[in-house]
Amino acid sequence: MPPSPPPPPSPDLAALWPEEGLVPPPRRLAERAHVPDRAALAAFRAEDFPRPFAALADLLVWTTPWRTLFDDTRPPFWRWYEGGTLNACTNALDRHLPAARDRIAYHWIPEAESESPRSLTYGELLERVETLAAVLRDDFGIGPGDRVTIHLPMSLDLPVAMLACARLGAIHSVVFSGFSARACAERILDSGSRLLLTADVYRRGGAVLDHKAKADATHALVTEGGGRLEAVLVFTRDPDRYASPTPLHPGRDRLAAPLLAHRRGARIPPVPRASNDGLFLMYSSGTTGKPKGCLHGHGGYLAWVAATCRWVLDLHPGDVYWCMADIGWITGHSYIVYGPLLSGVTSLLTEGVPYDPDPGRPWCLARRYGVRVFHTSPTALRALRRLAPEGPGADRPPFDILVTVGEPIEPHVWRWYHETVGGGRAAVVDTWWQTETGGHILATLPAADPMRPGSAGPPLPGLEVAVLDEEGHPLPPGAERAGTLVVRTPWPGLMLGLWGDDERYVRTYFGRFNRDPRSRDWRDWPYCPSDGARIDARGYVRILGRIDDVINSSGHRLGSKEIESAALEVPWVAEAAVVPIPDELRGQAVGLFVAPGPGVPDDPTAARAEVARAVVERIGPIARPHQVWIVPDMPKTRSGKIMRRVLAALVAGRDPGDVATLANPEVVVALAGIVAAEKPAPPREPGAQTPGPGGGGGPTPGDGGAGGGARGGERAAGGDGEGQAIS
Ligand code: PRX
Repeated sequence: MPPSPPPPPSPDLAALWPEEGLVPPPRRLAERAHVPDRAALAAFRAEDFPRPFAALADLLVWTTPWRTLFDDTRPPFWRWYEGGTLNACTNALDRHLPAARDRIAYHWIPEAESESPRSLTYGELLERVETLAAVLRDDFGIGPGDRVTIHLPMSLDLPVAMLACARLGAIHSVVFSGFSARACAERILDSGSRLLLTADVYRRGGAVLDHKAKADATHALVTEGGGRLEAVLVFTRDPDRYASPTPLHPGRDRLAAPLLAHRRGARIPPVPRASNDGLFLMYSSGTTGKPKGCLHGHGGYLAWVAATCRWVLDLHPGDVYWCMADIGWITGHSYIVYGPLLSGVTSLLTEGVPYDPDPGRPWCLARRYGVRVFHTSPTALRALRRLAPEGPGADRPPFDILVTVGEPIEPHVWRWYHETVGGGRAAVVDTWWQTETGGHILATLPAADPMRPGSAGPPLPGLEVAVLDEEGHPLPPGAERAGTLVVRTPWPGLMLGLWGDDERYVRTYFGRFNRDPRSRDWRDWPYCPSDGARIDARGYVRILGRIDDVINSSGHRLGSKEIESAALEVPWVAEAAVVPIPDELRGQAVGLFVAPGPGVPDDPTAARAEVARAVVERIGPIARPHQVWIVPDMPKTRSGKIMRRVLAALVAGRDPGDVATLANPEVVVALAGIVAAEKPAPPREPGAQTPGPGGGGGPTPGDGGAGGGARGGERAAGGDGEGQAIS
């Protein structure tokens, strides 16, 4: 294993806020909570690893029981519940029938209030899944282990498509709908999918966007990249009406509706899969330009999301639950599709940005449907608080649990969520986790644990975490210093690996603190999520931000390298460097420095726009730079490395520190002048953009975001990487 350079906790970590006092959990929740107090989970002692995790397998229905609880024969590729077989779709749907056949699984809420919601019961959902599974199997030859790329917006077709793949044992790879054709093609090429599921149009930010045009561009890029996309299956937003101005390509594009009509009523037996076979791929940004295909499996992943839905979200069959994230991110996979369906709840699924243009609408919807558990991101909360600080008012929805995910939440935003949204009666649960972890890792248990505003809380029962210093020594709880978070115990939800890149998996997540690559002992392989953190005297962990080159904007993980390589595709851009801009609404926004070579346009506004457009085209509106600075040179080390740290300090208004060792220290003064003269514009008002928890919890206006916020960006984006607005 090549050595992994140990980055010290970055000085660019988010600002620290003073430690807040503890807030007791609402006592009334204990009456019906799955976990009324910590004693209820006393069996989950990290010292007893892995034994307590055997109980989680009982939350699932198995076709064949497992034989080995924790297989450690190939560290750190841990395998759970080996020998068992099961089907994810059976667990999500069939098991609830017939007892709950008529219970609503999803209420789909269209963006426009004038349109009627559509609902599907568990029974109807299973029928739709089987019909689509028949089409996938019999019309497209999809079978176990095949990869299927799904580039669908927030419609009922999206969970149906995921579950149809799962039923057949195929691996779904959902690409967030706001991602560009380039991003989609890259994921198709990496996963080797031969079928793309897409849609004609969808609504966001009041506009109807042409999504099918992206599928055409995706197909061309896949072909150019040496891949082979055999077919494109096109769903229509409105039944039986193809609304895209982009024509269907004969022989390649197939409309879903007639194929589904032909197979209606088909019964497709679920294909049992081994516990450690792949269930889905979810790509995530990292340190290099190439997104990582995180492969999640069946047994471990499903057991972990089922357990965390009980422990952390306290979901009970029949509860009404609303997570404002987009299914296109991990939050949506775990906590809109698999977890809630395993738990038998009724979920709201919302198109577009539910609080744009009316910031009171989320509370109206929550009231109308009787939402008990509400789940969103700090970015969405900041936007809602700014647009309508009064929150839901006295006629409050019946909230018991208010969840947040994706980014650190500032204590004042936390308090607004707790007091103004929840009336002080609901538990606020700040959940820390990642695409890679499958489900929650740090969180307070809503009925059992005191909450600390601004702190994600303790590890879940059975897990042990630590914050390590540069040498890998744990910082004592209560230490004043920041360090690097690690999860010391393995857990069932951890991904199986990175698609086609075992070496990168080991290096990225375990290389930093493993001292003996030959060790077979799991204690030698702490999982390193690349987050800086502090641990308080109670063992609660406060996340400070990424320590790698990842920017967290509206809860979306954006790889600096991906954005830089997009900028470098502009012919006159010689060098590019991305830094985070502190942003009141999004947490961080993207700042991009470019040094031009020959051919730079005379008009700096046009030059900046060209660079921004290249980024949106390459990745999508979520990565749109908030500010592009065209600079004569970059600050560099003597070996020629760009010092992003210096640029980040200038942008954040901090002292760039000692620059004397740079190869070109004089450039720092010039850069400081340019940054001061071209201050980033204030964040756009959420109403003018889109909300959404990014990887995390809810949409954010303007970024095309998951749960966190995608709209504004998309609205502004017609024709530059986002679907073209057609009305
Ligand atoms: O930096 C952490 C931040 O989001 C990263 C994971 O992003 P992603 O894989 O897209 O998954 C997001 C949704 C689970 C983490 O490394 N993050 C996530 N949750 C929190 C957080 N930062 C602070 N507090 C959180 N609750």
